[in-house]
Amino acid sequence: MSHGRITGWATNLPDRVLTNDELAQMVDTSDEWITARTGIKTRHIDGKVTEMSAAAALDAMKMAGVSPDQIDLLLLATISPDQQIPASASVIQDSLGLSCGAFDLNAACSGFVYGLVTAMQFIQGGMERILVIGSDSLSSITNWEDRGTCILFGDGAGAVIVENSADKPSLLGWDLMSSGDAADLLYCEHGDNIVMDGQAVFRKAVLAMEAAAINAMDKAGVTSDQIKLVVPHQANVRIIESALKRLDIPIEKAALVLNYTGNTSAASIPLALVDALNAERVDSGDLILLVGFGAGMTSAAAVVRWDPPTI
Ligand code: ACO
Repeated sequence: MSHGRITGWATNLPDRVLTNDELAQMVDTSDEWITARTGIKTRHIDGKVTEMSAAAALDAMKMAGVSPDQIDLLLLATISPDQQIPASASVIQDSLGLSCGAFDLNAACSGFVYGLVTAMQFIQGGMERILVIGSDSLSSITNWEDRGTCILFGDGAGAVIVENSADKPSLLGWDLMSSGDAADLLYCEHGDNIVMDGQAVFRKAVLAMEAAAINAMDKAGVTSDQIKLVVPHQANVRIIESALKRLDIPIEKAALVLNYTGNTSAASIPLALVDALNAERVDSGDLILLVGFGAGMTSAAAVVRWDPPTI
């Protein structure tokens, strides 16, 4: 059977950095409050999904040594495409010079894990190389007068190349879930900004992450003490701490970038993953747990056995 593995990775953040002190001049808040309640210090804003994605994708392709004509599918996880029509995936496809299918996937902050799991299935179905991108420009759909949300969000992109090049499966177990009955806790109407019931999302997020992670680990046949690195959705460090405590995983095992990225939705997990890979926090054979939740409410988790590319 064919198996996919990650052979290239890269990220992109827009230049404009927005600090907590700047936010304190825009709404009634403070650096102390934001830091203590969320763990966020700065975030990048004013990014365009197509531009951030193309930049990250180009670097990931270079790293994997893959040329545009070798990509069989482009899969973009986003909730903030540049336009409603066409899909931003098609715009990115054109700017990268790819000749393949391309589509957007909306599973909010769980989107990258949904995308990675989907890509692995296409590899099993016979494709050779898939470009998976998680990218969002939440600054474009943020109400900058609402202190309950504007302190949280940022922009960014992360891209990976998934190739049919593994003898053994690297995706050992996964879980995808949606609880549409909680859709009204976090939504954005066309042409409007994000509306969120922060406390309710917080409570559900902790439970959803725990359930997704347990299901994925069960399917993989592993226990939480075997996990070397956890890559959680970067929404709020307190959510991550609570979920990991319930999973009995020490916080030191978590990849954390939210202090300088904020919550970048679909970009959040690949931004944290790439940071950890570049810091060489995993070796061949180590188990990585990716786990996210987001609007929908969706949740997703994947257990990946790290099978590094031979460069
Ligand atoms: N600065 C100062 N005070 C604030 C701020 C702020 N930015 N925001 C709220 N407060 C006040 C509130 O008004 C309240 O005051 P009160 O006690 O006088 O009424 C007090 O702080 C506490 O408010 P809470 O809402 O209880 O604060 P909480 O600790 O829950 O933190 C937060 C709020 C950060 C939004 C938190 O609930 C959270 O992170 N929720 C989850 C958000 C999330 O994960 N979203 C996922 C999005 S995923 C996607 O799909 C895009």
